Amino acid sequence: MDHFSYKNGILHAEDVPLPAIAEAVGTPVYIYSAATFRRHARVFREGLSGVADKHIAFAIKANPNLAVLHLLAQEGYGADVVSGGEMARALAAGMAPGAIVFSGVGKTEGELARALDAGIGQINLELEEEGEVLARLAHSRGTRAPATIRVNPDVDAGTHAKISTGRKENKFGVPIDLAADMYDRLSRLPGLDLKGVACHIGSQLADLGPLEAAFGRIGALVAELRRRGHKVSRVDLGGGVGVPYRPDDHLPSPADYGAMVARVTRDWDVTLMFEPGRVIAGNAGVLLTRVTWVKPGVVHPYVIVDAAMNDLARPALYDAWHDFVAVEPSGERMTANIAGPVCESGDTFAMGRDIDRLASGDLAVFRTAGAYGATMASTYNSRALVPEVLVDGDRFAVVADRIAAETILAAERVPDWLVQG
Ligand code: LLP
Repeated sequence: MDHFSYKNGILHAEDVPLPAIAEAVGTPVYIYSAATFRRHARVFREGLSGVADKHIAFAIKANPNLAVLHLLAQEGYGADVVSGGEMARALAAGMAPGAIVFSGVGKTEGELARALDAGIGQINLELEEEGEVLARLAHSRGTRAPATIRVNPDVDAGTHAKISTGRKENKFGVPIDLAADMYDRLSRLPGLDLKGVACHIGSQLADLGPLEAAFGRIGALVAELRRRGHKVSRVDLGGGVGVPYRPDDHLPSPADYGAMVARVTRDWDVTLMFEPGRVIAGNAGVLLTRVTWVKPGVVHPYVIVDAAMNDLARPALYDAWHDFVAVEPSGERMTANIAGPVCESGDTFAMGRDIDRLASGDLAVFRTAGAYGATMASTYNSRALVPEVLVDGDRFAVVADRIAAETILAAERVPDWLVQG
């Protein structure tokens, strides 16, 4: 459930009519609903009410906006970060260092050192050499690094190949059959405080089966580690819960997910860590855009909007579906292709879609754009970096400025030797 709805025929974010935001900020613009973020954060936590000992770390890659992180920190969420930049954001948003998990397959030595210096609560190791380097860094600081080993359980998550991470050929995690021996070796290093294991098999999972299969394997590994004399106090179950992108999508609810987790992990006797991203952020945001032209097409007309693949990359990258609705629908429909102005055919959001009838100048939104939307934006075609607005009741604020093409141009230099005398 989200807080984007029609009132008097006009699409609102909570109590703010979207045309008011278009007027004040221009388009394209991402619009987030604070009430929806809060609701999703609470529903996910309530879904896990059968899990006594847990910590939820929002996967901030889904939406790293500072105001969003601030809001989620107020809801008691920590952060799952995958770069020094994300770590800095989580800290800047007021998240306690101990509530932050550092994941990622390519953490540099510099990033690991910064994590130690900041007192990050958990570092998920992806390979043995990384563990050795982290142990050395911690030892030289007279401390022990809190860490887990991320395991690749070799489970097909049944999602898009580009967002699948738990099959053995993927770059992520340590193969599960090698993990116990590696745990033995790393646990002997004085600079490491190995707390347990982590896994994450993919994103936008439409079915709980693969997650349950992965967690079953993780449970067997925990038992094996204990047989070998290790004290396992933590298991990180990653993120991955999918969201409905279309009104008739049926996905497992956070309550379904939580019930499965509670059942499978009943005897584990650990603190469970969670790293949800999309399920918190996806339906808390829309991308507001204005129709530039309706161009006659050979089969269907092209509705050309002022948002493009550089603002919302998901359709071009993953053939993703985002519902597209008029801000002030007339009740009439049309079948159209929806495309942006960028100079490649991949800059097409949908082909032959049944949509509200639109004309030049009309406003429309792409829905479910709160996760992996603004954060994946670029300035391709020398377009401005898209701004972000947070709505909270009847208030709204720009929480990320539009970075103008001129500002980006001003950061570039022509070396003296190229300048003609
Ligand atoms: N934890 C780890 C280690 C991850 O790699 C991810 C996502 C998450 C948690 C959060 O997963 P979520 O709950 O959001 O499914 N750009 C793609 C999605 C990439 C997901 C990458 N990892 C998209 O737009 O669909």
